[in-house]
Amino acid sequence: MYYSEEILDQVRTANDIVDVIGQSVQLKRAGSNYVGLCPFHNEKTPSFSVSRPKQMYYCFGCHKGGNVITFVEEYNNMNFLEAVGFLAERAGIRLPEREITDAERQSRDERTKLLEVNRLAGTYYYCSLRSPAGRSGLEYLEKRGLSQETMKAFALGFAPKTPSDGLYRYMKSKGISDDLLRRSGLMNVDEKRGSMYDKFWNRVIFPILDTSSRIIGFGGRVMGDAKPKYLNSPETRVFDKSRNLYALHLARRTREDYLVLCEGYMDVISMHQAGFTNAVASLGTSLTPGHCSLLARYTRRVVLSYDSDKAGVAAAMRAIPMLQRAGITPKILRLDPYKDPDELIQALGHDAMRERLERAQNALMFEIEVTKRDYDWNDPDSKTRFFENTAGRIAALETEMERQNYIDAVCREYMVDRRQLQELVTRRLVNPLPEDSRSGSTWTEQRQSFPRQTSGFASFGTAPGQTASLQGSSSPGQSASLQGSSSPGQDVALQGGFAVGYGPDGNGSQGPGWDTVPDMDYDPAALYGYDDSGFYEDGETGEMFQAPPTATRKNRSVSVREQGDDISRRLLLNYICRYPAIFATISRFVKPEDFGDGLTGQAARVIYGQMQRKGSVDEASVLSSFPEAQDQTQIAGIFHTLDQASSGKDREKAIRETLIKVFSAAPSGDGTDLNQVIARKKQEAELRKLQIIL
Ligand code: CTP
Ligand code: MN
Repeated sequence: MYYSEEILDQVRTANDIVDVIGQSVQLKRAGSNYVGLCPFHNEKTPSFSVSRPKQMYYCFGCHKGGNVITFVEEYNNMNFLEAVGFLAERAGIRLPEREITDAERQSRDERTKLLEVNRLAGTYYYCSLRSPAGRSGLEYLEKRGLSQETMKAFALGFAPKTPSDGLYRYMKSKGISDDLLRRSGLMNVDEKRGSMYDKFWNRVIFPILDTSSRIIGFGGRVMGDAKPKYLNSPETRVFDKSRNLYALHLARRTREDYLVLCEGYMDVISMHQAGFTNAVASLGTSLTPGHCSLLARYTRRVVLSYDSDKAGVAAAMRAIPMLQRAGITPKILRLDPYKDPDELIQALGHDAMRERLERAQNALMFEIEVTKRDYDWNDPDSKTRFFENTAGRIAALETEMERQNYIDAVCREYMVDRRQLQELVTRRLVNPLPEDSRSGSTWTEQRQSFPRQTSGFASFGTAPGQTASLQGSSSPGQSASLQGSSSPGQDVALQGGFAVGYGPDGNGSQGPGWDTVPDMDYDPAALYGYDDSGFYEDGETGEMFQAPPTATRKNRSVSVREQGDDISRRLLLNYICRYPAIFATISRFVKPEDFGDGLTGQAARVIYGQMQRKGSVDEASVLSSFPEAQDQTQIAGIFHTLDQASSGKDREKAIRETLIKVFSAAPSGDGTDLNQVIARKKQEAELRKLQIIL
């Protein structure tokens, strides 16, 4: 933290959250809250709620939440300091001079410089493609069916054969130092002679842009069959391959409600040229969780269009559970007999692709089909094992409805008797982890639903409205001009926002992330009578709340018991914030330490501190004590968690039960200190009789 609490408070209070968010999201009044369509994920029905009294926002769909600063950070892809600066300026507050640390300045300068070098390189390649030296490149791209317009939209370029140090010399003419060039990843360095030469040479160039349309790296393809086929920039301070996707800056503006994830640059370009402007690709690496959370920021539906070869299928099998963990429903595009989307489009054209997209295969049916290849259909044992494996996958589904539908589908597809498959599924339901692991255990893991990850969206520290990388750049002495070279409407995406009118979410099945409660000894649903819709309105205030999170998110590393404890703790903190009058009673039994060392415990310390100092809790300022946006989202969840007690009496009872839970889960010493044991017993007895009156 570089600014004092006072300054931050001043900035926050001067920027009413409803006003700030209202400028980018259409909000409607609902009770004491405002609701609208969440700008952080696609949806048709509003689950994004903004509270003026709390000065907080929260999305019940994607679980993003925070205060006004968090919102500006997330929405504009800014870091904390940039967001504070933005809001201070908005409110006309002069921030005190801030000492930026050397490290901070260096890191910022380095990124700015690297982006500038990339922009220059992009210019050089772009112009080269359109110069006499780029003829072979242009012919190659034309031969592959790309139009001038497409080449322009993707800012394609060319690294000429001669001169082989063309980029180096161009950079020198622009005064770029060898040192910076070395770090840009655009040069190969001859260690012996200490000389440098262009990394990309005689290749067509695919600039890679981030979501703010800044060039962060390059891919280069040979024009024939030489190896390696593609060469990519190495990772640099601005190029994080696992957190960026090719063409996402364009695809984010699609009107479709899904994105298509391809393997290659050429696939994406072909798709866009054929009108499927919702295609993206990873950057010469396999899919990472970082990619998935990036995707989840824009859509809940992804069609995987990986190559139809063995490697592509294996990659799809890995991608499916990863996408599911990020809250995305994947489907699989069948390309056969073609190798990749590009080939399919070249061979069959737009309509065939559209049709295949519409018929994209359900992920589970795809997994089952792929698994079948490992079994020998002519061997009865092997065939049985295939159906056992399949039954395991089906048994792992959440609801009976889903299971029945998949049983139907599998029976239809694999010509097996319904009762027989049903029997296997039932057996797996009763005994979910059979001793024999013949069918492998991966399905249990794959089917776990995990909490949606908050995206670790890389922020390169740009202000909104930053211009596309190629615009306004000078041409390296050639006639081609780069002005307006970005695709039409590109700057719309640059307003730091999310494409307005971006398709609806169409994911009725996803739910708000709170699904049926697994069998466990602690069942808040039974205790407090939640319905399973996950969120609802408070009868008294009309505010929207959500059933406590985490219980159903079967996270393997945290025991159900621990999750239950954490739910109770969060619930109790929520009660304290909502009913400050009960704090005195609660704090007699439960101390901040009793909330554990995790995030909930840290929040407890802040909340207890505020209660003791001023008798109430300022939610937005509690959030400010957590600098990480990810943590803020978690803490924001606390303030939006409530039991569904219908009457005051029920709530009083629920509070007492929760208090008892937290009390009992608190570490109680090792039982050797007799006085301590007696004191605890006494408190326990007192708790049982305790009357909570709201
Ligand atoms: N790739 C790479 N390095 C390689 C080969 C591939 O980085 N040596 C990455 C590139 O991002 C490429 C993607 O993997 O776009 C898919 O590779 P591949 O299927 O071989 O290429 P295509 O996209 O089909 O390219 P083309 O149609 O030009 O052959
Ligand atoms: Mn291809």
